[in-house]
Amino acid sequence: MQTWLVTGGAGFIGSNFVLQQRLAKAARIINLDKLTYAGNIYNLAILKDDPDHIFVHGSIGDRELVSRLLSQFRPQAVIHFAAESHVDRSIQHPETFIETNVVGTFRLLEEVRQYWGNLTISERDNFRFLQISTDEVYGSLGPDDPAFTETTPYAPNSPYAASKAASDHLVRAYHETYGVPIIITNCSNNYGPLQFPEKFIPLMILNALRGKSLPLYGDGQNIRDWLYVADHCEAVRLVLERGVIGESYNLGGLSEQTNLQVVSQICEILDRLVPHAQSVPHYSLIKFVPDRPGHDRRYAMNIGKITRELGWKPKESFYDGIVKTVRWYLDHPDWVEKVASGAYRQWLEQQYGQLL
Ligand code: NAD
Ligand code: DAU
Repeated sequence: MQTWLVTGGAGFIGSNFVLQQRLAKAARIINLDKLTYAGNIYNLAILKDDPDHIFVHGSIGDRELVSRLLSQFRPQAVIHFAAESHVDRSIQHPETFIETNVVGTFRLLEEVRQYWGNLTISERDNFRFLQISTDEVYGSLGPDDPAFTETTPYAPNSPYAASKAASDHLVRAYHETYGVPIIITNCSNNYGPLQFPEKFIPLMILNALRGKSLPLYGDGQNIRDWLYVADHCEAVRLVLERGVIGESYNLGGLSEQTNLQVVSQICEILDRLVPHAQSVPHYSLIKFVPDRPGHDRRYAMNIGKITRELGWKPKESFYDGIVKTVRWYLDHPDWVEKVASGAYRQWLEQQYGQLL
């Protein structure tokens, strides 16, 4: 069995990936996570007696720790999810994004370069560093523009997107300069179980359940291309196994929706699943609020390359995925209770003030 070092495996996508891959017994996983406000050890509770999931509380920026983990566990792959990931927070506090996404990734790469350089030739050939990136590095599309491809120039607009673009460039440079066998995936918006409720979809579900306002930025017509998180995790595994070194692959849901369309569907599902709630119809809770500065208008991913070359395409339709997601939040009040800590409430207060 292979060993993988997964970073950020207690966050939303990372924990979905770790759970999915441990269920498939794909690899022994060393899970390095700093447990910031977005990391949640409860996401991994089901793995507590799994000897092939080793959780390490620490930072990608701690070079001594990363070096020790690499030499102790000798992984065949590093799958790098760890990041500061919320655009609104990057607008309020950009520095953390530079520290984690840029400097943290740089330090991780430095340790990986040392480790990889000391492997045997065949071990080096089999090693992979997988960078989990985003469609936001490509900037914003107009209504009739073709979807982003892997050759679309980077044009990030938020501090978050700029920090991810910078980290992608570093990853690419470590391949071109030092030969580290890297692959980059650029993915569109994910949704599904275990997503921290500062992000759009869980925020809307939980606010609606509590009878609070559903704050839509601007005119609600910004478009995102939604991908169910399990589909993303399967693509990551596939790219790890069969992706070409030095290449990048776009991933997306083929499911462009305006924010207003997304909220309307959530409201309709909740009206059906919780018909006796006080705020039925939930649609009445929608409130248009001032726009996010620099708000990208539209994202869309052309996934032709990964479909042609590796045979991947999303399995979940948006409607089925969003029904599953709403049900998951309804069925997991304990999880919601645990993540909605004091720090989370403070964020809502700071971000939305009296609006909610
Ligand atoms: P998340 O914010 O839910 O999780 C991030 C995780 O990284 C948390 O567990 C956090 O504790 C951990 N972390 C933060 N700083 C760390 C550090 N210095 N050392 C170790 N761990 C640290 O993020 P997510 O939504 O799961 O996103 C995961 C990755 O996927 C990110 O790199 C993000 O840019 C990328 N991505 C996300 C989406 C999306 O829609 N959520 C889409 C495309 C790409
Ligand atoms: O596209 C991939 C990216 O998707 C990832 O790289 C990021 O890590 C992830 O956070 C996400 O970024 P977005 O900015 O697209 O996601 P967010 O959930 O913050 O917002 C989705 C859309 O909803 C966006 O157009 C802004 C809007 N929105 C968001 C919030 C939180 C609102 O209208 N109201 C809100 O309260």
